[in-house]
Amino acid sequence: MLTSKQICVQSVHDDVLQAHDVSLRVIRFDLAHPTVGGNKWYKLQRNLALAREQGATRLLSFGGAYSNHLYALAAAGAAAGFETVGVVRGELVQPLNSTLAFAHAHGMQLIPVSRATYRRRSDADYIAGLHHQYGPFYLIPEGGANVAGVRGCEDMATVLATLIPDLADCEIALACGTGTTLAGLLSGLRLLYKHQTNESRPFVRGVAVLKGADFLRHDIRHWLTCVNSPAKDEDWCLETDYHGGGYARVNQDLSDFVVRFARMHNIALEPVYTGKLMQALYQRIGSGLYPPGSRILALHTGGLRPLQSNP
Ligand SMILES: Cc1ncc(COP(=O)(O)O)c(C=O)c1O
Repeated sequence: MLTSKQICVQSVHDDVLQAHDVSLRVIRFDLAHPTVGGNKWYKLQRNLALAREQGATRLLSFGGAYSNHLYALAAAGAAAGFETVGVVRGELVQPLNSTLAFAHAHGMQLIPVSRATYRRRSDADYIAGLHHQYGPFYLIPEGGANVAGVRGCEDMATVLATLIPDLADCEIALACGTGTTLAGLLSGLRLLYKHQTNESRPFVRGVAVLKGADFLRHDIRHWLTCVNSPAKDEDWCLETDYHGGGYARVNQDLSDFVVRFARMHNIALEPVYTGKLMQALYQRIGSGLYPPGSRILALHTGGLRPLQSNP
């Protein structure tokens, strides 16, 4: 169902980049699919395959009322013939916002739970209770954050290697929520470059979109261990100072930046992930943190459709 042929590379040119002699290319993973674009397909593909292998007919996952993940899961699950259940944090406000309306229209059963209950989403006894209530299901954790999600994101490295001839000389930058995408990408790159020295491999920079995200470094190392990846700490870093106040916090600067960027470069960003990533990159470039000649690849990980219709 993924038409990855549509993923393209868009070079960005403006005064800031020129003044600092930095090249910036945006990798449009968001164009891969109208509903399961960005990193979503990569996180979901192996989960769906595993669910099928295990004979599951129902998928259950978790997310907030504006969850890109539930949105994509509803579409991908329906297309693959699964029933889907979305456990939603907080009340279901009627009329449903367009993310949840879309999920519902694609057959997802929406289960609202209190924030306190939602916090128990990884507890074995809570999951057992869900099985009891909703019947057998294949569980996909919030944000598609599991080993199958990490493995699926390894394929993003192969796509990059196909699209970017000078990949080894670039820094790859991406927004991080759970760190699943970054871990998968790193693992995939390590597999591609397993015979190369550090200098001839791309460096990966994650930009955390939530506040207090230092714990994500531990999570990313955990995922790398789970997939037996030889990726090393010198291959990547995580920036934790560009959260702009916290997850989904959008200040005026950020909304202005996103509008300006779309106008100048004809690339729409949403403010929660890709907007924060791009703003962080411009702040870093403007502060002279990149030496002249640096080449940055910013991954457009999608997330636009639900947010465009939910200002
Ligand atoms: C648009 C978008 N970009 C980036 C991310 C971050 O991905 P991850 O949770 O794998 O770090 C997400 C969350 O899944 C997202 O929806």
